[in-house]
Order: sequence, then C-alpha cells, then structure tokens
Amino acid sequence: MLDLATIRQDFPILQRKVNGKPLVYFDNAATSQTPKQVIETIVDYYSRYNANIHRGVHHLSQQATDAYEQARGKIQKHFNANKASEIIFTSGTTHSINLVANGFGALLEEGDEILVSAVEHHSNIVPWQMLCERTGAMLKVIPMTANGALDYEAYDGLCTEKTKLVFCNHISNALGTVNQIETLIEGAHKVGAAILIDGAQAAPHMQIDLRALDVDFYTVSAHKMCGPTGVGILYGKEAWLKKLPPYQGGGEMIAEVTFEKTTYADLPHKFEAGTPNICGGIAFGAAIDYLNALGMKEIADYEQELLVYATRALEGIADLKIYGTTAQKAAVVSFNVGDIHPYDIGSILDKLGVAVRTGHHCAQPIMNYFEIPGTVRASFAFYNTKEEIDVFVDALKRAIQMLS
Ligand code: ALA
Repeated sequence: MLDLATIRQDFPILQRKVNGKPLVYFDNAATSQTPKQVIETIVDYYSRYNANIHRGVHHLSQQATDAYEQARGKIQKHFNANKASEIIFTSGTTHSINLVANGFGALLEEGDEILVSAVEHHSNIVPWQMLCERTGAMLKVIPMTANGALDYEAYDGLCTEKTKLVFCNHISNALGTVNQIETLIEGAHKVGAAILIDGAQAAPHMQIDLRALDVDFYTVSAHKMCGPTGVGILYGKEAWLKKLPPYQGGGEMIAEVTFEKTTYADLPHKFEAGTPNICGGIAFGAAIDYLNALGMKEIADYEQELLVYATRALEGIADLKIYGTTAQKAAVVSFNVGDIHPYDIGSILDKLGVAVRTGHHCAQPIMNYFEIPGTVRASFAFYNTKEEIDVFVDALKRAIQMLS
C-alpha cells in the first residue's frame, strides 16, 4: 500500500494553486512531477561537485564521473540489462529513436521493410519515414482496431524475410493501450528483424525486464518517471550497438583522432559525443531510487485503481466517449463529449485548477482513424488521488454545462 499523504509531501508542486484552485495535475503522460529527493540531488550536484566527466584528474571531475556512472549502473539494474555499457545516455526517447534510425541507414537497402504500429507518436513515425527516404526501404503499418489495440493477425502477415526492423511503443501515449510487445518481439525475431520498443509511457508505470523481454532496443525518458527533462536512455543489445555506426561525432566518443583517421571509443561512449547532461543523468538515478523505494508493483496496482475509478465516473456522463478501451491499459483516459471541442473543455478545466492535455497528442494517425480532431486526455500518476478524480469529474460536468 502506498502512503499517499507522505508521498504527496514529497512533491512541492502539488501544494500549489492554479487560478486560485488547488492544482489537480492529470498531465502525467506529458511529463511527471519531481519529488524533492530528485530536486535535492540536482541542487547538491550544482552546489558541491559540478565538473566535466571522464576528462579531469581533479577531485570534482572524479566525483561527478563516479556519480554519473553509478546512475548508469542503477538504470542497468532497474531495467535488468546485461551490461551497463548497453545503457546509452541520450536527451530522451526522441533522441534515442533518431540514433537507431540513423544507424540503420547504413544497414538497409532498397526493398527492405520497416514495420511501425498504427498507434505511434509522431517521434516514432517521422524518423522512420526519413530513413526510408534515405535508403529506399518501405514503411508498412501494423493496423489498429476500434478499441485501440493492434491487429496481431495482420502483424503476422506483415512479418516477412523483407522485414528488417519493427518499431512500436509499449504503451500508446494517446490511448493508454498496453501493446503485447512479447508477441511483437517474437514475430520480429522469427523473421530475423530487429525490434525497437519505445518505453517512454511504460517505464514510469511498470517493472520492465529487458533480459526477459529479449528486446533489441528499448527507449526511456527520465522526465516521465520523476526525473528531469533533457535526459533519457537508449538500451541496445551489445551486438546491435556494436553493429550500428556512431550517431554524432565529437569529443568523448573517440579512441584516437588524427587528420587521417579516427577510431571510436568502446560502448557506451561511442554514442555519447560531447559533454552530456551530467546532472540530469545523476538525477535520473535518484528518480529510479525514489520509484524503487515505493515499489513498481505497488505503483502499478494503485494506478490501475485510479484508472478503474476514473473510467467508471466518466462512463456515467452522457455523450462522453472514451477512446482506447482494451483490457490492458495504463492509467490514461482519452475522451470527447458530444461535439464539444477538446480544447474548450481543457481550457475550462484549467480555470478550475485541473491540468489535462488536449489535442492530437502528437499522434495524428490515431485521431484520423477515429475521425476526430483530438481528445481530452487525463493521465494519472501514483501521487494522484481518488479525491482529485472527484474534483476533475465535477469540473468536467461544469465545463459541459457551460459549453452545451
Ligand atoms: N509524448 C508526450 C505526451 O504524450 C509529450 O504528452
């Protein structure tokens, strides 16, 4: 059982008011809030040992290097990767995906196929389209069904010897659907394709075991799991990371440089050109510690309770339609009410202190599928409460009254 009163005290922002009302923060799929343990880690870094890493013999540089590499080790352990060197620090999921897409430019040929799912975020569509333009490979789409699930039978048919790479998010940011990634991984491996799973929406809400999944690449953003913005990771199996060329050239990623030839550093540094987000990486480690102290299972169980509670309350509202109704869902409710524009509902909710996201959620193909401009999306985290859901539902009813 989570101790909500104590947990909420850890998040200073939850004590503030917005538009004169207590903040109800239900935009956790966009970014999560930051506990004071992580904020203190950031303050401590800049107050006591801010220095560049892997470069200096001096004390501060050693201390910063140790803390940064310890954070990498924590992340490796948390996600159960084989080696710390399989964890590449990036600026977040988008950077991680672009790194892999760039690398596959050297491995694909005309006629090869890349599969992406129909429930993707734009950051999971555009890099593959750019890759196809560069290589002559073809992008094929794993279709979705009316409840927001993927069509796994169609996926089976799409996987052929031409398939070189499969890409899918673990959880849809727009609908909350938990995709059956085990099935996708098995299907990709059967035809010898690599598979990349975007875990940005999953890692904050469930325990991820990379070794058990046997996935080739997995991406995570720190800011969705109580860490800071501008940092994340790409996990890659060692064999794949060795095969991919470096993404960016610069300091840190080299072994030796002359004007004639450069040799590259070993993993993970081969992919970490330039001074990284040192403080961000260390703070990401602190966020992992914070989540583990609460327990990922406890977090997952409680968030499911919030999802069931919110879904029941919303289903009682006339003309309200929820998009994404699979049995396996993260704590995300995406909906519309009659023909009221989602933006209008979101604006009134904001006036009443409730923060939700409205619009297409960077997932226009999903909105096109449902023939809607967008949705109102409420996304919950473990520090939210049922009382906040009550406030949200009351505010929503007021908004509907005003707009009808
Ligand atoms: N991908 C983030 C979201 O779904 C920004 O809101």
